[in-house]
Amino acid sequence: MLSINKVYQGDSLQLIHEIDDNSIDLIICDGPYGVTTNEWDKITDIQTYNLNLIKLFSRVLKPGGALYLFGKDDCIDFIDYRPYLQLNRKIIWYQPSRLAQGRMNYTNNYDLIAYFTKGKAKTFNLDAIRVPQLVELEHRLRCEKVPSVLNGQYGKTKFNDEGKNPGDVWGDIKQLTYKSKELISRELLNTIQKPEKLIERMIKASSNEGDLVLDPFSGVGTTFAVCKRLKRNFIGFEINPDYIQITNERIRKIEMEQDYSLFQ
Ligand SMILES: C[S@@+](CC[C@H](N)C(=O)[O-])C[C@H]1O[C@@H](n2cnc3c(N)ncnc32)[C@H](O)[C@@H]1O
Repeated sequence: MLSINKVYQGDSLQLIHEIDDNSIDLIICDGPYGVTTNEWDKITDIQTYNLNLIKLFSRVLKPGGALYLFGKDDCIDFIDYRPYLQLNRKIIWYQPSRLAQGRMNYTNNYDLIAYFTKGKAKTFNLDAIRVPQLVELEHRLRCEKVPSVLNGQYGKTKFNDEGKNPGDVWGDIKQLTYKSKELISRELLNTIQKPEKLIERMIKASSNEGDLVLDPFSGVGTTFAVCKRLKRNFIGFEINPDYIQITNERIRKIEMEQDYSLFQ
């Protein structure tokens, strides 16, 4: 087994064989989409590539462990992942600010994040990820008078004052821009660095303190920055040594902030 809280340099399709069976609580997989001109993204059949990943991940996940797989809208079309993992939801990460992509089709305005578990989910911390209701009062009153879909009876719909389930269209988390404070460098915009808030929602929902999170395409270490703050352990794989250096600096900075706050 590999050491924890470390990013290993190399090809994740090889390195994953070093991980023990049933040892990982959560996998965040933001790997190739098969659409950009980056050398590592030149995958001719992204669906077959993703099916192979799903097979490999199913061995290392604990029963009930979760996988969030990023991709374009068709990234898991026409493949049978059911022998390996259970698909619970296709989450739409809605990005209204995407540039137009031609005049003869609708602009694609979202990334897909496929949320799988190995059997029934063992962890889903809904209270940790609630979002504000944002329901207009009038609509809310009308909702309170509709019959229940479960039994047809009229009754008051209960609203949780702590907020609602974020649902499967995530339009509240914006893509990074070149003005974002957390952006490490401009070259990382769009194809590499993801917003911490996006990864944070998955980690809060699908893991607990002390759990082990695997990010097999770890880029500049967004997952690990969030893990450090939320007291999760991690293992990372990344092919680009420059990104690993950035990751290690990012983690060291967070550790220093945490040490400093202990002495305050
Ligand atoms: C979309 S980026 C991940 C970014 C990450 N979520 C972040 O916020 O920094 C995908 C990463 O996967 C890496 N990569 C691509 N193919 C790989 C492979 N076979 N093994 C390991 N890393 C790989 C790329 O170098 C790139 O940094």
